[in-house]
Amino acid sequence: MLKFHSKSTEETENFAAELVQKIGGGTVIAFFGGLGMGKTAFTRGLARGMGITDDVSSPTFAIVNDYGGKPPLVHFDMYKVSTWEDLYSSGFFDYCDMGAVLAVEWSENIENALPENTVRVYIEKGNSENERIITVEGMNI
Ligand SMILES: Nc1ncnc2c1ncn2[C@@H]1O[C@H](COP(=O)(O)OP(=O)(O)O)[C@@H](O)[C@H]1O
Ligand SMILES: [Mg+2]
Repeated sequence: MLKFHSKSTEETENFAAELVQKIGGGTVIAFFGGLGMGKTAFTRGLARGMGITDDVSSPTFAIVNDYGGKPPLVHFDMYKVSTWEDLYSSGFFDYCDMGAVLAVEWSENIENALPENTVRVYIEKGNSENERIITVEGMNI
């Protein structure tokens, strides 16, 4: 388990950009933590760390944003996903099979479908407005 105390949005992004150097294709990065915790900010850092220059924003309406890259980074928002049918049609399993890196917001909603080697990222609020406590599980390092 890895624990990181972030004091700013930039620190969260930098942490993610470094972390992703140790993560290979075919990995699900599952976020747990409510609205405004920094799941999208974290994903922005993942993209930067993977050399992707696309704009990163919560794919609330589309459910999925595919940013490309090698391996591709694919960003899911599972907020409205509540059935296996929804999950299948989002392309989640196809992207897993093709070896993408999957960044999954609202993983609470698909917890039963997460593969065994999932990297879990828990984000909680710290003592002040811009503080976040980030706990990473499943990195095997
Ligand atoms: N330490 C921090 N890490 C990440 N975001 C932070 C931090 N401090 C403040 N913020 C702010 O919190 C908000 C997080 O938004 P966002 O990444 O969209 O959250 P989520 O996707 O979890 O809803 C942004 O406005 C960001 O600037
Ligand atoms: Mg978000």
